[in-house]
Amino acid sequence: MSSLRNIDELKKGLESAARAAGSRKQFMEAVARQLHDRMLKYNWVGFYMIEKGSNGQPDMLVLGPFVGSMTPHSRIALNQGICGAAASSGKTIVVHDVKSDPRYLACSAETKSEIVVPIFAKGTVVGELDIDSHFRAAFQHEDIALVEYCAALVGRFLEKFGAREYTGKEGTKTAAAISSSSKR
Ligand code: SME
Repeated sequence: MSSLRNIDELKKGLESAARAAGSRKQFMEAVARQLHDRMLKYNWVGFYMIEKGSNGQPDMLVLGPFVGSMTPHSRIALNQGICGAAASSGKTIVVHDVKSDPRYLACSAETKSEIVVPIFAKGTVVGELDIDSHFRAAFQHEDIALVEYCAALVGRFLEKFGAREYTGKEGTKTAAAISSSSKR
């Protein structure tokens, strides 16, 4: 189990990453990296971001920054998987045993439990933070609080740096550049 001190240090590290990051991509990469490296049971940490459907196509979740093995699920429909359920309901979903949840889309044979927390910007779900563990029931109360804290931090960052759709294609920009481009 992770100590509260470790969690406090992690939160401080994330807050300083939020101050230092020059782009949304850079900040999300830092969040995924720090959660993965500091929390021993967090074996895959990544973001899925909502891509708005055009020409009558439905919205999709698209894989964003992540740390861990490549997943076969780089695009997930909102009516599929734990990820789709969390994004469409706007609620945190914790699955203690992925084998017992028929919604589960397998990413790695080693995954035993999963948490998905929606990310809100300006009151709308814009993406989610997804974490897989090789341990059953890895996500307990303090983990849920931590992951929700991280998702809220990313949501605030996205609001501040422009809540327009995340494409993953942006390079590193200054805060001022992002802020002005988001106003166009
Ligand atoms: N398990 C997820 C799919 C994403 S991978 O875990 C990275 C789901 O059921 O939606």
